[in-house]
Amino acid sequence: MTLKSITANQLSFVPNQDFVNQANINLQKFNELNKKAQDNYELYWAELAREKIDWHKPFNSVLNQKKAPFFTWFEDGQLSISYNCLDRHVKNNPNKIALIFESDNGQTIKVTYKELLSKVSQFANALKAINVKKGDRVILYLPHSIEAIVAMHASARIGAIHSTVFGGFSSKALADRILDANANVLITADGQHRGGKAMSLKTEVDAAIELLGDKNPIKHVIVDKRINDGKCNFVALRDIWWDDFIANKPTECTPEFMNSEDPLFILYTSGSTGTPKGVQHSIGGYLLGGILSMEWVFDYKDNDIYWCTADVGWITGHTYVCYGPLAVGATQIIFEGVPSYPTYSRFWEIIEKNKVTTFYTAPTAIRALIKAGADLPKNHNLSSLRLLGSVGEPINPEAWKWFYEVVGGSRCPIVDTWWQTETGSNMLSPLPGVQPLKPGSCVAALPGIMAAIIDESGNILDKNNTGYLVITKPFPSQLRTIWNNPDRFISSYFPEEIGHGKYYVAGDSAYLDNDGYFWILGRIDDVLNVSGHRLSTMEIESCLASHPKVAEAAVVGRPHEIKGESVFAFVVTKGGVRPTGEQANSLEKELRDWVGKQIGPIAKPDEIRFGDNLPKTRSGKIMRRLLRSIAKGEEIIQDVSTLENPSILEHLKNKI
Ligand code: WT7
Repeated sequence: MTLKSITANQLSFVPNQDFVNQANINLQKFNELNKKAQDNYELYWAELAREKIDWHKPFNSVLNQKKAPFFTWFEDGQLSISYNCLDRHVKNNPNKIALIFESDNGQTIKVTYKELLSKVSQFANALKAINVKKGDRVILYLPHSIEAIVAMHASARIGAIHSTVFGGFSSKALADRILDANANVLITADGQHRGGKAMSLKTEVDAAIELLGDKNPIKHVIVDKRINDGKCNFVALRDIWWDDFIANKPTECTPEFMNSEDPLFILYTSGSTGTPKGVQHSIGGYLLGGILSMEWVFDYKDNDIYWCTADVGWITGHTYVCYGPLAVGATQIIFEGVPSYPTYSRFWEIIEKNKVTTFYTAPTAIRALIKAGADLPKNHNLSSLRLLGSVGEPINPEAWKWFYEVVGGSRCPIVDTWWQTETGSNMLSPLPGVQPLKPGSCVAALPGIMAAIIDESGNILDKNNTGYLVITKPFPSQLRTIWNNPDRFISSYFPEEIGHGKYYVAGDSAYLDNDGYFWILGRIDDVLNVSGHRLSTMEIESCLASHPKVAEAAVVGRPHEIKGESVFAFVVTKGGVRPTGEQANSLEKELRDWVGKQIGPIAKPDEIRFGDNLPKTRSGKIMRRLLRSIAKGEEIIQDVSTLENPSILEHLKNKI
């Protein structure tokens, strides 16, 4: 494959000297780190792991490749991630603020490291009291809150494996995850506040457990009273209020020291099939990735006020809210609400009020903010900001420029971080005191991360050739397996078809430009990226097809001004009669709600087209390429000679 057109903006922004002078990593250190990693890969990682992590029992084994691709790191070492994130800071600086909670309605709650450790310990003791043990799975279904951080750390403190389910997922999605993880305990809230509205979460939990019927493994549901509207359903013997759960429990709890390779959490993410994958991370390697990127990419300093806007339900909320910032002892903002409430100035108000220094968000939020009020940041004093970050999808140059100039006052470097649920921490990113920035490029691999672009046969490609983005050597923070499904782990990330199973295949296509900068072009599989969140076309298709009126469905992505990509569905109804007019409109609504209920509101198609059939080849394969063109409203220039029934294209092209 050769690159046809370089759409990239080749402007570069040289880091400002004041920033470079104070940066944790400058060019010289960057080169030294890279050289060390090249010369002795294992020693490089071992030294960093010894320096950055407090080990309960030191490790001797660094990387073990005997069971490749099930690699292990620091496997004979023992540690507690909770100790590393809490106790060690309490020893040095107990009254430092760990969390600044900004609630939806503007209330602020500050929690020191000492207070956070007490809360975590108390909750951990309560979990022990209901017999939660090392290795047990605990499901969290909570709003972005102090309680979510407490529950995750409490599970980790006693060696239980948490699986956090984003509060925007439906009861069906929750039920699937409960079942796959086979969890006995679920921690939730009565509801959540977002944008001035109170929404129930507990009703989804009750529905999920009901859906599971005889298969339900959940024995205890712990419920935080967040909205406290007196309407929350309560099931005696199974449910317990958070406050009653922790009542009279001691606020000290010795951490369980775990093997470095013990699982820390499972986080479900979409793949190219209909069922989500339980990405499993282990403790030591994951923690190391979080700490190094906090120091190198986010240039973490003791007096920073750090804010990552991601919800704890996603990987960004795990690594760059729950674990990374606490591991380095940071003060961070936890924002419960949405950027649009009470006005589109909310982010800028929070930054001004708290003197935020480091602000990490997603391109979709940036685009929405530009659209709603490009001038609004100018009404606020944002001079505390010194570093900006972007994650989740490629950032378009216009959004980059606005973020850089209007939010960052042309003073703050932007770290465009490429990584994935599976990689656990940042893989590609500029280091802010090192490389000049190019809007839209993730620049380079972090020291020690061996990224490359390959062709199908595994040949490493030169500059300006589009290919598959891979990581050629095992790295500490990578996923260890797919929960319950080691075969899927191998076929998804070390596929025979791409690179002969030798490399970690990320699932993105990318190229290197003339300066050796990485540019991500998008997914190579049937995975959509809607507002920085991963959705599987197959999952939405099977959801649509499970509706009683639907015979068949195909889902593709369509470029979207704010969300990056939006869900576009083609549907054939049962009986083959294509609905038109009002009938089509009402069925469209019904199906959108159906998807919202089955998966979650983020998966709802923006638009649905009905046809008598779908365009298929003679062998019966749906021609998705064609559907993508239709979704975009493009002229069809592709060869349709292999299409069995060309007339249906006319139906699908027009919205009725
Ligand atoms: C996919 C991973 C990692 C946190 C959020 C998403 C895309 C992620 C970037 C970026 C271009 C990006 C990739 C990747 N992606 N960051 N900076 N530039 N694309 O995590 O749900 O695991 O999705 O998001 O396609 O494979 P995720």
